[in-house]
Amino acid sequence: MTILVTGGAGFIGSNFVLDWLVQSDEKVINLDALTYAGNLENLVSLDGDARHFFVKGDIGDFDLLAKLLAEHQPRAVVNFAAESHVDRSIHGPEDFIQTNIVGTFRLLEAVRAFYGQLEETAKNEFRLLHVSTDEVYGSLAADAPAFTETHQYEPNSPYSASKAASDHLVRAYHHTYSLPVLTTNCSNNYGPYHFPEKLIPLVIHNALAGKPLPIYGDGQQIRDWLYVKDHCSAIRRVLEAGCLGETYNVGGWNEKPNLEVVHTLCAILDELSPRADGQLYKEQITYVTDRPGHDRRYAIDATKIERELGWKPAETFETGIRKTVQWYLDNQAWVANVTSGAYREWLGKQYGETK
Ligand code: NAD
Ligand code: DAU
Repeated sequence: MTILVTGGAGFIGSNFVLDWLVQSDEKVINLDALTYAGNLENLVSLDGDARHFFVKGDIGDFDLLAKLLAEHQPRAVVNFAAESHVDRSIHGPEDFIQTNIVGTFRLLEAVRAFYGQLEETAKNEFRLLHVSTDEVYGSLAADAPAFTETHQYEPNSPYSASKAASDHLVRAYHHTYSLPVLTTNCSNNYGPYHFPEKLIPLVIHNALAGKPLPIYGDGQQIRDWLYVKDHCSAIRRVLEAGCLGETYNVGGWNEKPNLEVVHTLCAILDELSPRADGQLYKEQITYVTDRPGHDRRYAIDATKIERELGWKPAETFETGIRKTVQWYLDNQAWVANVTSGAYREWLGKQYGETK
């Protein structure tokens, strides 16, 4: 048996592929365009493993997808491939439209053509799981209940609007063409192989490098954090038991203001890798101009996936964040490699010396 994973060299996709191959003997076809966010280094532990077949390519390439699907006859497709960083979508939305909307559309078209030719048994088993985000729901007021799956879509950034469009296309392909789809909408992930442009890995990286820790606005924006391995286990569970055409919110009930997250990271670093000058890492905190259109609060109500599919996260924020800091301390070479070259140039252009 085989599954096709897109975006499997990125943060969540690579964690998913690594976990999948620990838990299953099924082959993984890993299609990834290797943008700045995709790193084959995430997958070096699979070198020589015949169950992992990497293909460099774009989800917008219909012919390539058609060829891969025909050749490998996967029983499922899991779509992680996307442009994922909100700040980049504000500075340059075009790539987000191209990959997240047009790319998802082409993937759906290729899967629809493939699915149409399957025998009845294979048709019954086949699934397309689309990985999406809680940001499609927009921003919550401080006292509003957490997002459920029936919350209206109100995306506020080019990133979240492009993800919302992709979710709608996936939904439409189920409704119109009976494509067997599942969608997951997850909260903020953190953990190994997280690219150091996102808050948690950026703060760890900058702290150790003696650089400012940039806090947008007042730092009281709230995000709902989930350890990446728990997101991966949720996706596996939805693939296994989710109802076709349904969406599942994924989260760990871990709402935290950004400033609290940064203070936690600083305290763990003070303990595990204290500054040579005896000062505390929190002294590097620097307030910077807020992100335009910055969503104030996200929070996921994970009742549906817990009740209907019996999924629960294994990590609390406290255990997961400690593991994450330790991983970055142990993997400084990975950080140095992925933060060199084009990435540094880009950050320099956007933010000058702040980052
Ligand atoms: P990421 O940016 O780390 O990785 C994205 C991967 O997709 C990279 O390997 C990149 O090379 C690849 N890619 C980009 N464009 C492509 C294209 N056109 N064709 C093929 N591959 C392409 O992102 P991530 O954080 O791992 O997110 C994965 C998915 O999960 C995304 O769809 C994202 O919207 C969603 N998501 C992320 C989070 C989070 O907190 N990171 C939370 C909820 C949902
Ligand atoms: O909610 C799920 C989403 O979480 C995913 O869909 C996105 O792909 C993922 O990137 C993430 O989006 P956020 O914008 O929430 O993540 P980011 O790490 O960029 O920012 C987290 C919070 O921290 C946000 O409120 C902005 C703030 N921030 C971020 C950076 C990079 C700062 O204060 N300073 C920073 O330098």
